[in-house]
Amino acid sequence: MTAEPLLKVEGLEAAYGRARVLFGVDVAVEPGGLMCVMGRNGVGKTTLLNAVMGVLAPTAGTVTFDGEDVTGLPTHERVRRGMGYVPQGHETFPQLTVAENLQVTLEATRHRDRTAVDEALEVFPRLTELLGRKAGFLSGGQQQQLAIARALVTRPRMLILDEPTEGVQPSIVAEIEAAIERLHRERGLAVLLVEQYLELALRLADGFVIIEGGVVRRSGTAADLRDEEVKRLLAV
Ligand SMILES: Nc1ncnc2c1ncn2[C@@H]1O[C@H](COP(=O)(O)OP(=O)(O)OP(=O)(O)O)[C@@H](O)[C@H]1O
Ligand SMILES: [Mg+2]
Repeated sequence: MTAEPLLKVEGLEAAYGRARVLFGVDVAVEPGGLMCVMGRNGVGKTTLLNAVMGVLAPTAGTVTFDGEDVTGLPTHERVRRGMGYVPQGHETFPQLTVAENLQVTLEATRHRDRTAVDEALEVFPRLTELLGRKAGFLSGGQQQQLAIARALVTRPRMLILDEPTEGVQPSIVAEIEAAIERLHRERGLAVLLVEQYLELALRLADGFVIIEGGVVRRSGTAADLRDEEVKRLLAV
């Protein structure tokens, strides 16, 4: 018996003006599942996540979350329903301190429960020592941790992460990987992860899709990620 997917993306098309990027992408994430979206630079991975979150309006297709069609909803309504988004390039408020970044996010939530901040800090204990520091002065890796912590403050049921290890120093890559793994395995968070780093994807993902030419060219389980065709599709 298979459960209904938590997130279901069907026939998604997206374009920038006349430049079409996605030509009908299907991807599903099971409750508690960890799905990895892969593909070369510029194939439309970020475009897909932005369309899933309503940052970009798709030109066709539907996004269903927890059985509800959210395709027409604004981003903040998707966040309220449990979709936590960490965009590429770890967006934080650089002029605000770490504590203020978390507080501002908390104030925008429906639950307003301060323990959500403590829970997010438990995932990234390193941030506890940096609470008074302006986000703009953090390293890339620390900013990424803060960006994920901010998404956690919203108490998501699913985390949507766009290249969380990009430009991050190796010691912190390991911390971020461990955090994603714990959130997924211990807290049962579903994850949709864009990740170029194949070894990390292999360790974390239950399933993957590879985008090429605006469609899902290959999909499968982590075991399938090892074959030659996959390596060719991802060739760097
Ligand atoms: N705001 C925009 N306006 C116009 N074209 C865009 C815009 N954003 C992205 N594109 C183009 O759309 C295509 C897909 O870009 P996207 O950022 O989704 O790719 P990606 O797979 O996330 O790449 P990367 O691996 O570099 O992050 C690219 O050709 C890109 O140049
Ligand atoms: Mg991208």
